[in-house]
Amino acid sequence: MLTVRAPATSANLGSGFDVFGVALGTPADVVRVERAPKTTISVTGAGSEYIPEDPAQNTVGAVADALDAPARIHIDKGVRPSSGLGSSAASAAAAAVALNDLYDRGYTREELVPIAAEGEALVSGEAHADNVAPSLLGGFTIATDDGVTQVDAQIPVVACLPETAVSTRDARDVIPDSAALEDVVDTVGNAATLTVGMTRNDPDLVGRGMEDAIVTPKRTSLIDGYEQVRTAALDAGATGVTVSGAGPGVLAVCHQHDQRAVASAMLEAFEAVGIDSRAYQTRVGEGARLY
Ligand code: HSE
Repeated sequence: MLTVRAPATSANLGSGFDVFGVALGTPADVVRVERAPKTTISVTGAGSEYIPEDPAQNTVGAVADALDAPARIHIDKGVRPSSGLGSSAASAAAAAVALNDLYDRGYTREELVPIAAEGEALVSGEAHADNVAPSLLGGFTIATDDGVTQVDAQIPVVACLPETAVSTRDARDVIPDSAALEDVVDTVGNAATLTVGMTRNDPDLVGRGMEDAIVTPKRTSLIDGYEQVRTAALDAGATGVTVSGAGPGVLAVCHQHDQRAVASAMLEAFEAVGIDSRAYQTRVGEGARLY
């Protein structure tokens, strides 16, 4: 039997829609696998009641199929589904690492990215890799059709998760089909700034580079309290705030000495609009780990 822990992730980071992602230190999914004649899946933990155990409908089942690696698979969810923190990707990444090892498939972590992304297609309708890449590789990742670039960044973040849900499919339905050149120019500049910030471990540059005029503004109306939470986090010292993935999680980047105040401000702002939430005070961290 093999056990793998794969971290939650935050995709997009505002300016890098469907491209940027970071691994979070916490929370994480833990997946256990053992060889079996056919794949079966059991699920416990956060939001497990919403996750299908039928392998044909579970991201992990798609990964087992892609690796031709039938197994008895148990998923212990630390990352709640429909959170914007890469819940399905964490399970898919953990399963990909575990089954690759269990069956000696010999794929590198980079080669596992498109395999784990197959599972994402089940959830969102598209096999985007911006969550599975950081969950597999750790740090900050730039995932494009041509492959993945990874940076071992260590930026302090607060991921604040309200007790509401947004489906990735709904959040993709509100994305505009086209964008004004002016907005594209701004967003490219911000994405470049963010990337440099990650290479320098500079929360100020990363926060500045998270601004996005194209996708994020269309999505914020799906998250009750978003504007209040964003303002509160910035007032408490966050250097940048954006929707985490497809939401409803909200991601703030900050300096270490402001982290506690930023987390408190975000929790209080959600509470002020009548929504319970929890805040993960963590850092950009390591990728999936095999035990
Ligand atoms: N890049 C994807 C999106 C991530 O924002 O729709 C979904 O978790």
